[in-house]
Amino acid sequence: MQFNYNETHLMIKETARKFAEDELAPTAIERDEKEEFPYEAVKKLGELGFMGMMVPEQYGGAGLDAVSYVLAMEEISRVDASCGVIMSVNNSLVTYGLNEWGSEEQKQKYLIPLASGKLLGAFALSEPEAGSDASNQKTIADRSGDYYILNGTKNFITNGSTADVILVMATTDKTKGAHGVSTFIVDKGTPGFFVAKKEKKLGIRSSDTVSLSFQDCRVPVANRIGEEGFGFKFAMKTLDGGRIGIASQALGIAQASLDASVAYAKQRKAFGKYIAEFQAIQFKIADMATRIEAARLLTLKAAALKDAHEPFGNMSAMAKLFASKVAVDAALDAIQIHGGYGYCQEYNVERYLRDAKITEIYEGTSEVQRIVISRNLLKD
Ligand code: CAA
Repeated sequence: MQFNYNETHLMIKETARKFAEDELAPTAIERDEKEEFPYEAVKKLGELGFMGMMVPEQYGGAGLDAVSYVLAMEEISRVDASCGVIMSVNNSLVTYGLNEWGSEEQKQKYLIPLASGKLLGAFALSEPEAGSDASNQKTIADRSGDYYILNGTKNFITNGSTADVILVMATTDKTKGAHGVSTFIVDKGTPGFFVAKKEKKLGIRSSDTVSLSFQDCRVPVANRIGEEGFGFKFAMKTLDGGRIGIASQALGIAQASLDASVAYAKQRKAFGKYIAEFQAIQFKIADMATRIEAARLLTLKAAALKDAHEPFGNMSAMAKLFASKVAVDAALDAIQIHGGYGYCQEYNVERYLRDAKITEIYEGTSEVQRIVISRNLLKD
C-alpha cells in the first residue's frame, strides 16, 4: 500500500495552504463575527480550479482526483471552515452529482459554469420534517406538460441565498416513498422561488445557511436529473462523496487546533517554564496528533476507494463519523491548553470549536453515519 502523495497532490496542498494563509487568514475572524460571505475568496477559489476539482476539464473542472480534493479541503478548512463548506457543497454535492448523472445538455448549461467557479451551487434536500429522515420529502413537484410545479420548503441550505443554481429534491409520486423523489435544477430568480430565512448559527458563520420556499415554481422537465424517482438515490449517492468533503473539513479544523496548541504551548510560561514542558500538555498534544492522523488515513482511504471506482460509501461514513469527533475533541483540548485565552476570540480556537460542531451534524449526523455503517455490516 502506497502512503506517498504524488507531485500533483503536493502542489495542490501547497497551493491551497498558501491561498488559505494569504487570502483567508487575515479576514477569517472578522468575517465570522460579521457573518460575511467570502465572495471574493470564492471567486478566487474558482480561478484556482478548486470549485470543481473532480470534474473533467472538458466540463470546466480541474480533472483532479478525490485525494487532491481531500488535501485542498483540509488546507482551506484549517484556516476557514466556512470557506471549506462553501467549497465542499459546490464540489462534492453539486458538480459531482451533475457530472455523474446530468444530461449532456445540463452539463453544457450548468456544469461548466459551476465547475469553473463562474456560478455557485447549492443542494436542497433537508426540510423542516426531513433532516435525518431524508426520504420524508414534503416538497411536491407536480408534472404539468413540459414543466413541474414545485411547492414546499427547504431548510438549512448551505449557499442557499448566494447560489445561482440549486439542486432541489422533491416528491413526484407520494405513493412511492423514497422511490417517488426526483431531483431538479432550479435557477436563482425563477418565479415562485424565494429565499425565506437566513439562519444565525453557532459556527461556520461566514457561510450562508437559509430556508428556501417554492410557491408554484415552474421548472422545465429538461431540468430533472435522471429519471423520475431517482432523486433519493441521487441524494444518497452524492452524499456518500459529500461525507469525504466534510471529513476533510473536520480534519482541517482538528489540524488547526493542534497547530495552535503546539505554538501556544511553546511560548506560554507558567510556574517558571514553558507549558510545553508539562506532561499534562504533552500528552494532550500527543493524543490530538494521533487521532488526527487516524482520521486523515480514514479520509484518504475513502478518497482512494472513490478514485479506484470501488464502493466507498461505508468508508466515507466512517471517515466523517471519526473525523468530526476528532475535530470537536481537538478544539476542546486546544481551548483547555490556551486556558482563558482560548475562550477569547483572538486566539481562534473558540471559533474552531464552534465550527467543528457542525461536522457532527450536516451531511448526515453521527447517528446517521452509524446507521449507514452498521447496515453495511449487518446486511445479508
Ligand atoms: N447509495 C445508493 N442507494 C442508496 C444509498 C446509497 N448510499 N442509501 C440508500 N439507498 C437506497 C436504498 O438502497 C433504498 O433503495 P431500494 O429500496 O431500491 O433498496 C432506498 O435508497 C431507500 O434507502 P433506505 O431504506 O436506506 O432509506 P431510509 O429512509 O432508511 O434512510 C438514511 C437511510 C441513511 C437515514 C438516509 O435517510 C440519510 O442518509 N439521512 C441523512 C440525510 C443527510 O445526510 N442529509 C444531509 C443534507 S445535505 C447537507 O447537509 C449539505 C450541507 O448543507 C452541507
